[in-house]
Amino acid sequence: MQAIEEIGITSWRETAPRMAEALEIGKVVLAPRLHFELPEPERRFLSPACLDGKSKNVSYRPATGALGGASPDADRAALTAMLKRYFERTSALLEALCPEYCGKLSPGFTSFRPAEIAGRATSWRKDDTRLHVDAFPSRPLRGLRIIRVFSNVNPAAPRMWRVGDAFENVARTFLPKIAKASPVSAWLLHILRITKTRRTPYDHLMLGIHDAMKADERYQRECPQVSIAIPPGATWMCFTDSVPHAAMSGQFALEQTFYLPVEAMRDPSRSPLRILERLTGKALLT
Ligand SMILES: [Fe+2]
Repeated sequence: MQAIEEIGITSWRETAPRMAEALEIGKVVLAPRLHFELPEPERRFLSPACLDGKSKNVSYRPATGALGGASPDADRAALTAMLKRYFERTSALLEALCPEYCGKLSPGFTSFRPAEIAGRATSWRKDDTRLHVDAFPSRPLRGLRIIRVFSNVNPAAPRMWRVGDAFENVARTFLPKIAKASPVSAWLLHILRITKTRRTPYDHLMLGIHDAMKADERYQRECPQVSIAIPPGATWMCFTDSVPHAAMSGQFALEQTFYLPVEAMRDPSRSPLRILERLTGKALLT
């Protein structure tokens, strides 16, 4: 498996050839020398003490400037400034690396992840040490792609990831195990405001694949996969809705989510939406 595309860039505005192509075919693009520098006053945030005790991340919403998950005792203005800077850097990075996506990406949350992953108690469904593709229970994406950029800001330790099989193979394995979508339950979830918009058949299948992968212990052990140690200071990115990934250990990472319409891809036929429509023979955004 050739899961990783390593690039030597050292600045957030540097270009590299064919990055959108690499991302779309399902690679993790790794830039070991692209560092998100933390000036001395920000290094105090390298501690789980900046969390509110309930959340696993501090989150920032670029559209409104709202900060969530932070301890009331933390310097919220400084945390907001750090996350805003990460949003600006990663926006510039994607503009430089994927010029074909310019003007078509919309930002999701920015997050800072100061807690150690290994040993964290959680339910199997929320356990991100199990290989999964990203799908959100409360936010139907209606086919939108998810690109996530991450930086390991731990000065001393790597972040350990596993990367799994091609999306089409994953879909072929798990589609037969997913219960049929119920239009009534999609309507109820929306009326009860459990989902922000109505859950489409596409979102139902993506959530089903997410859950079925995580629940299958044997698949987790035996499926094609590679382990990667992301070194201190490195930045990496992938389409997390199609690249199966698991975060095994590590502490102190930043992450920026972007959304991309399927039609803005170089090749929309590589999207989970089009792959699932081909495999099921159905239109999935009804
Ligand atoms: Fe994930």
